[in-house]
This record gives sequence, C-alpha cells and structure tokens, in this order.
Amino acid sequence: MSEVLYEGKSKIVCKSDRDDAYIINYKDTATAGNGAKKEDLEGKGKLNAEISNIIFKYLEENGVKTHLIEVIDDITVLVKKAEIILVEVIVRNIAAGSFSKKYGVPEGTALKNVIVEYSFKSDEYGDPLINDQQITAIGLATQNELDNMAAQALKVNELLSALFLKAGIKLIDFKLEFGRAGGEILLCDEISPDSCRFWDAKTNEKLDKDRFRRDLGDVLAGYRDVLSRLKTNEER
Ligand code: TMP
Repeated sequence: MSEVLYEGKSKIVCKSDRDDAYIINYKDTATAGNGAKKEDLEGKGKLNAEISNIIFKYLEENGVKTHLIEVIDDITVLVKKAEIILVEVIVRNIAAGSFSKKYGVPEGTALKNVIVEYSFKSDEYGDPLINDQQITAIGLATQNELDNMAAQALKVNELLSALFLKAGIKLIDFKLEFGRAGGEILLCDEISPDSCRFWDAKTNEKLDKDRFRRDLGDVLAGYRDVLSRLKTNEER
C-alpha cells in the first residue's frame, strides 16, 4: 500500500503518484455509536466500494461533480484531492434514526417536506447537529458553500430516490460529505449502506447499517441485496 495519510473508521486515505489525487481503500470494519461498537465484517469494504462506485458514476453522468477519478480495484479508488468540509449534510425523506428519537416521530412516518440538516463532523464531539449560523460563525463553511451543498444534496436525493425506487428500494435518509478542490465543491466520501438507510419498498426490510447498529442479523446480506438490485437496474 502507498504511504498512509489518514486512517478513518471505514477507509484509509493514501498518497498517489499524482499531486492532485489520493488513493482511498475501503476497510471491512463496521462501527456504530461513534466507534463504541466495532466489528470486522469480511467483504464489507468490497461491497461498499462497488455500491458507491456505481452511485458516484451515475451521479456524475447526471451532472453532480464528485471526487471519483477511477476505480483501481475491488476496494480501491483514485479520487481528486479535496479539503473535506467538516459539515455532514443529512437528507431525510422518511422519519428514522436520530430524527425519530429526538422528535418522537415514529420510524417510517412520511415527512411533509424533505429535510436537510447538518452535523459537525467531529469524532471528538460526537457529530453534533449544527445550524447554518453556527457553521458560518465558527468558520466551518461559508453561507455560499452551505447553499451549494444543500442544493447538491437535494439534487442527489432526487436522482437517488428515483434510482433506488426502480430497484424496489426506498431511500429513507442519507449522509453526504463535500470537499473543496480547485474552486469547486465536490461530492466526496462514499454513498453506501453505511451512509444511507435503504428499506425494501414492499416489506420495509432494512438493507443498511441499521442491521449492524441494531443487531438485526446477517448485516452483509442487506448490502449484497442492494448491490445486486443496482446491477439488475444497470442491465435493464
Ligand atoms: P441519523 O438518523 O443517525 O442521524 O442518521 C441519518 C443518516 O445519516 C443515516 O442514513 C445514517 C447517516 N449517517 C452517517 O452515515 N454517518 C453519521 O455519522 C451520521 C450521524 C449519520
């Protein structure tokens, strides 16, 4: 492996032989509760890499600028160097997870409008919810950058909700990360069952990391299902 620059909970960022690019390796490690629960799930890295690569290519084809340059192997991608903005953008279509808990809205409740919310990306402080004024006040991002990220997140939501619906999957919510590169804001990180909630459209079976967070049984069976349905979509 090339020189490691940063090791995160589920990915490793390495130097590449290009000045403008990094290599990212997907790991098999699954974590929840800010690392309180941690396990190696053999094959998770490969599944997430493949799912995320299909999604990023689809988004690029539909006008979303992403960091993905090329797929190197099963668990490795070459990406544009970007300065990660420490704001996680969360989009919700249906109530679930922390939203349901915090506001007493039962999981599965349809929302009257799409929600965009922000978290401060910080393991030390446990990714707390943060609002526009707090973000600009402490200099995590400018209002222009936030407006850009929110608009891109809504576009991603429209594109992915349609893509997954074709695959018989409801996109409940998801988290995006963005980075600054050459005066642009690029979609970075990954989009996978680790960072989204995917429910079977007919049965509401959970096909995402909630299987791990909540001990619902074979975690990767859900991930494999998401991947195979995306591939069936591609073949249509
Ligand atoms: P939440 O309901 O726990 O706030 O999560 C909302 C969505 O964002 C869910 O699809 C999981 C994803 N998410 C991450 O991928 N990483 C995170 O650190 C957080 C807080 C959420």
